[in-house]
Amino acid sequence: MPVASDDHGSTDQEPDQAGQRRHVVDHHGLRHHGDSEVGPGLVDLAVNVRQGMPPTWLREILVSSMSEISAYPNAERATRVVAEYHGRDPDEVLLTVGAAEAFTLLARVLATARPVVVHPQFTEPEAALRAVGLVPDRVVLPDPFVLDASLIPGDADLVMIGNPTNPTSVLHPAATIASLARPGRCLVVDEAFADCVPGEPESLASVRLPGLVVVRSLTKTWGLAGLRIGYVIGPPELVAAMREAQPLWAVSTPALAAAEACVSPRAQAEAARWAEEMAGRRQVLADGLGALGAYVVPEARGSFVCVRLPHALRLRTLLRKKGFAVRRADTFPGLGPEWLRVAVRDDETTAAFLAALKEARDDLPA
Ligand SMILES: Cc1ncc(COP(=O)(O)O)c(C=O)c1O
Repeated sequence: MPVASDDHGSTDQEPDQAGQRRHVVDHHGLRHHGDSEVGPGLVDLAVNVRQGMPPTWLREILVSSMSEISAYPNAERATRVVAEYHGRDPDEVLLTVGAAEAFTLLARVLATARPVVVHPQFTEPEAALRAVGLVPDRVVLPDPFVLDASLIPGDADLVMIGNPTNPTSVLHPAATIASLARPGRCLVVDEAFADCVPGEPESLASVRLPGLVVVRSLTKTWGLAGLRIGYVIGPPELVAAMREAQPLWAVSTPALAAAEACVSPRAQAEAARWAEEMAGRRQVLADGLGALGAYVVPEARGSFVCVRLPHALRLRTLLRKKGFAVRRADTFPGLGPEWLRVAVRDDETTAAFLAALKEARDDLPA
């Protein structure tokens, strides 16, 4: 995949008052995220970050990293450890300021004439492209939102997809995604929620394919959204270009310590146990929603479910009055006002939420 020069060939630029060029960015609501749904006194079912995290042992590692805080961060060791974990070489890995930074760096360095984003999915990949003046084509998968490779235009030179996908919770088969890889195309797979799936059978993080880039996040499972740590795995020349584009010392020393700790055998065993337990709790949530007449996108594999029900936005407002924040899903291309996304929590919280939803539904005017 060629790497871009400074000129992105944007058609979305126009002069501002000072005669300089600036980007005209229309995010189409793409920058609405679950964190803007939560607030004081609300039980958070809107943000897909595991509750009660980080665990004590990880907090202790973060605290002890403070002893090195006066030095500039050095990502070498953490990069090597993360690379080893995925069976990759260090020059195939770049640690980033959360997965979100990876999308920004990719948008900056990729020379793409026909970018395609597969929706519904997390909206930052498209927002990052738009922020540099690129307007991607959207492939909107129909319900039940499973990837059909034949829908991807053959001349797409950049394809971005999530697996498992936020907000649908759908896990695409790795083989179907892999079939999209080809020379001259960059295939970006956002695996921010891969560790929700026991054994990660559909992950491509350890696979080398032409133009394949895997983006991972450590903020969800480990409750590190405020620390900001993720990484990207891909062809060395692309990773090198992203490293060049990344601000110097971008990933802090505590974030580097977290990266190393989160791929340790201890962390992986803990995450695997959690993923198994979470699957059971997700079933309880999905069954409860189904019993209330909601449609839940089948085969959910993430730490959240995607739900369609009549008057969803009004129910969301009523739920807020009852103390529960759920995420509106109408800001995801391909979904409409009848969709919500609900995080999997402990059974007690789920039971209280389902009771509140039933009440809210009964409160709706006939
Ligand atoms: C699918 C997906 N990818 C990436 C991210 C960004 O993660 P990070 O916190 O690592 O930047 C999110 C955050 O919500 C997400 O839902």
